[in-house]
Amino acid sequence: APFGDHVSIVVFGASGDLAKKKTFPALFGLFRQGQLPASVKIFGYARSKLSQEDFRERVEPNFKTKNDKDKEKVKEFLDLCTYHSGQYDTDEGYKELLKEITEFEKSGNVSKPERLFYLALPPSTFTVVALQLKKLVYPENGAVRLIVEKPFGHDLESARKLQKDLAPLFSEEELYRIDHYLGKEMVKNLLVLRFGNQLLNAAWNKEHIQSIQISFKEAFGTEGRGGYFDEIGIVRDVMQNHILQVLTLLTMERPVSFDPEAIRDEKVKVLKAFAPLNNDDILLGQYSKSEDGKKPGYLDDETVKKDSKCVTYAAIGARINNERWEDVPIVMRAGKALDESKVEIRIQFKPVPRGMFEQIQSNELVIRIQPDEAVYMKINSKIPGISTETALTDLDLTYSKRYSKDFWIPEAYETLIRDCLLGNHSNFVRDDELDVSWQLFTPLLNYIESDKAPVPEKYPYGSKGPKGLRDFLGKHNYVFTDEGTYQWPLTRPD
Ligand code: BG6
Repeated sequence: APFGDHVSIVVFGASGDLAKKKTFPALFGLFRQGQLPASVKIFGYARSKLSQEDFRERVEPNFKTKNDKDKEKVKEFLDLCTYHSGQYDTDEGYKELLKEITEFEKSGNVSKPERLFYLALPPSTFTVVALQLKKLVYPENGAVRLIVEKPFGHDLESARKLQKDLAPLFSEEELYRIDHYLGKEMVKNLLVLRFGNQLLNAAWNKEHIQSIQISFKEAFGTEGRGGYFDEIGIVRDVMQNHILQVLTLLTMERPVSFDPEAIRDEKVKVLKAFAPLNNDDILLGQYSKSEDGKKPGYLDDETVKKDSKCVTYAAIGARINNERWEDVPIVMRAGKALDESKVEIRIQFKPVPRGMFEQIQSNELVIRIQPDEAVYMKINSKIPGISTETALTDLDLTYSKRYSKDFWIPEAYETLIRDCLLGNHSNFVRDDELDVSWQLFTPLLNYIESDKAPVPEKYPYGSKGPKGLRDFLGKHNYVFTDEGTYQWPLTRPD
């Protein structure tokens, strides 16, 4: 059930980067849009000793405002926030916090407290904070929701351990595991695109689809986070979670309804149908200096091991052994320090029978998650006019062209915090889902991190990635569109 109109929100790790860049700006965004409970108080909690002023100055620059009215809102919002410095593993700070929360609840004559705890913390502190919260700040008669940030574990074993530690403290009902990709507008649209359009619904299978690709590209490297990234690598950082989540929504069967458990049941089911990832069906890369020498290579980062084999680019083949997808090649690919920042899905359809046409290209559906959300389908059409030639063009739904700019599309974190306040688990990761995703990726990660794995291929910062990519995609049935006949955006032929 949705939380009522008097809610306490506590953000742990309030002085950290995530809180500064994502959590507080998202809370502000919701407030600006009138989407927070009528009466709300936000408590920041962290170890750093910061004055209220310091704290406000830290978080405020990331708030998005368009006009003076929004700027007024910033002030109002900051008045709802207070900062508390305290330890994570001793009782004192939590007791102080409880006192403040209780005072706020008393001021609203609340009989059943509603408290939202947000752990924007490194995983090493998850369990201890959860323990302390349960012991000291958990209302006997009321409701609690706990948002936990990734990474949920480093591999299957550690993920299970974390699960085992958290489970006795907070029920699955109370836990909200964030994968922020599930909060993105286009990812939320996948269910509607797939299941709300008979045209796509009917063709969504091995009879008609020849290859599936999910591609994540970032135009920047690991600058400033090298030390963190070196232990993680690109596969854990974005593939086992974000990309796999997208792939799951793309390939699962139709849920019986929009009910969160109905959706998550289907996600788990398709995840269980994945074939084990094949150690030989991978392409690994690590970026080196940019060609002009201006951007550093991965190994130039001083916080990274000198001879690190950490993977900053990976393309991985996957298969789903079920009736719908058997033998359809799937490629998940992700890379840092590439030529552009873009996340998209490409579904390539099988060719039509040749007979009539000497040469005709295949349909391709592209769902661009970011930047500038778009869905476009490459289709064959006669060149207008007296020409009888066929050319590839597209049906194009680009959001920025179709929808007004004033339209509020919430940021991923705004959506997710709102969902949590509403008690909607659809876009959060369930325990069994997490377990299967680690079962799938752990053996491959162990291989990649062993001496048996090939040394990652170097690619220059700012390039398209490892040279082997074109062949790799070709091997997975992807046919490159003939660039002579198709341009984006398409111009009228002369
Ligand atoms: C995070 C990863 O989970 O997702 C980052 O740790 C990555 O490395 C980020 O940059 C990408 O998120 P977004 O929303 O910017 O695409």
